[in-house]
Amino acid sequence: MRALVVASVAAFLVAAAPAPLDVERQVEDLLARMTLEEKVGQLNLVSAGPEYRPEMVTSGRVGAVINFNDAPDVASVQRLARQSRLKIPLLVSLDILHGFRTTFPVPLAAAATFDPDLVRRAATAQARETAAMGVQWTFAPMVDISRDPRWGRIVEGAGEDPFLGSAMAAAQVEGFKAGGLATSPKHFAGYGAPEGGRDYDAAQIPPGELRDAFLPPFRAALRAGSDTIMAALTALNGVPAGVNRWLLTDVLRGEWGFDGFVVSDWAGLQELIGHGVAGNPAEAARKALLAGVDMDMMSGFYDTHLADEVRAGRVPLSALDAAVRRVLRVKFRAGLFDSPDPDPANALRSVLTPEIRALARTAARESFVLLQNRGDVLPVRKPRSMAVVGGLATSKWDPLGPHAARGHSNETVSFLDGIKARAEHGGTAVTFAQGCDPECAASEGFAAAVEAARGADLVLAVMGEPRDMSGEAASRAHLGLPGKQADLVEALLATGKPVVLVLLGGRPITLGTLAERIPAVLMTWYPGTEGGHAVADVLFGDESPSGKLPVTWLRSAGQAPLYYNRLPSGRPHLPNNRFTLGYLDEELRPLYPFGFGLGYTRFAYSDLAVGSPKVAPDDRVTVEVTLTNAGGRPGAEVAQLYVRKPVAERSRPARELKGFRKLALAPGETRRVAIDVAARSLGYHLDDGTFVVEAGMYEVGIGADSTVPLEGRFEITRELRLPPGHTPPRVD
Ligand code: NOJ
Repeated sequence: MRALVVASVAAFLVAAAPAPLDVERQVEDLLARMTLEEKVGQLNLVSAGPEYRPEMVTSGRVGAVINFNDAPDVASVQRLARQSRLKIPLLVSLDILHGFRTTFPVPLAAAATFDPDLVRRAATAQARETAAMGVQWTFAPMVDISRDPRWGRIVEGAGEDPFLGSAMAAAQVEGFKAGGLATSPKHFAGYGAPEGGRDYDAAQIPPGELRDAFLPPFRAALRAGSDTIMAALTALNGVPAGVNRWLLTDVLRGEWGFDGFVVSDWAGLQELIGHGVAGNPAEAARKALLAGVDMDMMSGFYDTHLADEVRAGRVPLSALDAAVRRVLRVKFRAGLFDSPDPDPANALRSVLTPEIRALARTAARESFVLLQNRGDVLPVRKPRSMAVVGGLATSKWDPLGPHAARGHSNETVSFLDGIKARAEHGGTAVTFAQGCDPECAASEGFAAAVEAARGADLVLAVMGEPRDMSGEAASRAHLGLPGKQADLVEALLATGKPVVLVLLGGRPITLGTLAERIPAVLMTWYPGTEGGHAVADVLFGDESPSGKLPVTWLRSAGQAPLYYNRLPSGRPHLPNNRFTLGYLDEELRPLYPFGFGLGYTRFAYSDLAVGSPKVAPDDRVTVEVTLTNAGGRPGAEVAQLYVRKPVAERSRPARELKGFRKLALAPGETRRVAIDVAARSLGYHLDDGTFVVEAGMYEVGIGADSTVPLEGRFEITRELRLPPGHTPPRVD
């Protein structure tokens, strides 16, 4: 019943969205009544904390706030805003990347579901919990493509692929919006490609590559309705995003027609001084505004210098007005002027409901990726005894993952609790031995863990990255199991008992020779509040795992960056020829390829057929395949379509994901699966911005991961070439 009420309220809000002309009229009317200082105030975002002063709000010097995150605090800061001369409501923000109180799997895990509909529903549920507190704006989705798992923030995005990344970006934006949150895709642009995987380092990305691989998820998020966008902290091709007029104005507004506003990242304007593109705060404020940054998050430089810059004629009033107009437009569109203050009682009732917890559990189990399962060790057969080992198994903090907003440990189901609850129900005895704490610096507990393993039929080793090893400022040069975890797993393996490695982490973890010797590996990422239940659902076979890797899984950190859609080499790898692509001391291939993931059943693909052998660049081509659940259990499979152009004007990626469908099939069931591809999605950009869809032959295949053979062919009959500055075509 409650779900129905919430749904109808959301429908009402959508129906009541103000008409564009009304919004523009209201914006102009308000702008005409504002003083210079009040205009600047709308561009200032401040945080709750030691430097916050209520009089800043009452005097109209603040347009948006962050980190006011319970309903009474939000209501009180909005009351202050109503005491200001023009009573303009604040935009209240918070980082909601995977939940507010109910924590869902981290975004990289959400991408592993390959299920945009589930991701959309999850985002809506997250937004409703958040919006009930009076928060109206999330700094999400994080849509930075990352090909380098050394970068800790890879966990916050959808991984390495622009097609999957775009689908996930759009799903999150639509979902957040339906639940009442404005969104801000971030970090525009290139933040996901810092040199060496070092957070905050510069990125060098050729302009054509930027447009093909890094910008599409931003474009998809804006098309799905994002009203704001966050500028990166970092430099792209030598130009820090905060002063990058080409990016923030020419591309974003000129080419893409974006009419919302750009917010800096935290202290982003201040960092322009560190970048060496501004000599002082006034210069940073001037350059950022003129480049296209509308709102200053936590530098205070607009607050202290922008009015003077305008008075001195160094910043035209028209540029300031344009920025203020954009901010007010978003406030009117979001209905802020008519929103009641949050009701604390309702806010409390809205969190951690059984429905949202159930959805978080579904999302978690669908995100798990079964990486290997030799001898069908999984699912656990009952009755039997099992030993659970590892400090992460009892942790209620780590499974929440980075950026868990207000997720509480005491509301989280640990892996051990979830496993025990399910095991008791099935008559399986569970013993637990920590072995070591999550960081695993010491080995004193190993003997007891080995003892527990000896007494069990099956060992579950819960290992991986503690939460603080992932996320912002968590770059790693070594990607192996932390501390002495690998030694502990070795000791468990030496007992001769079957060992299942249950991994937590925010990126691929290199496994060294363990990979060849350990029977089963299940990647659970950071699964959130319901993680323990979800992991039990999958280990005991109540659900078959169906997640697929949204990122290439390396053998060694030294392979980074390694991604599936790379360009071919003129000297492809030959095993016995040193003078071909490869390493002296490592394989070239990843451990597990992009798109890979096993289940408890087996899927067979056959009879690929291409709908039309010839298509025009504005047409679509339908590719079909027969998918059979050839195993003995129900399961879901992600059929993935990859394309390549073997001969082109310039080297084209070895293959690119251009479509996917997730389907659940009963044992023995067969279905014909059709995936539609827009011929335009096969185009690419030249460095000057020209968009080209080449005529000629393309190869296509549909299969279980990115190594599928490309057996089909079709021809694009003529070239399409759009000049620089065109509005880029949809690529989905
Ligand atoms: C800094 C992070 O880079 C950004 O992603 C986040 O949204 C802001 N802090 C606000 O918390």
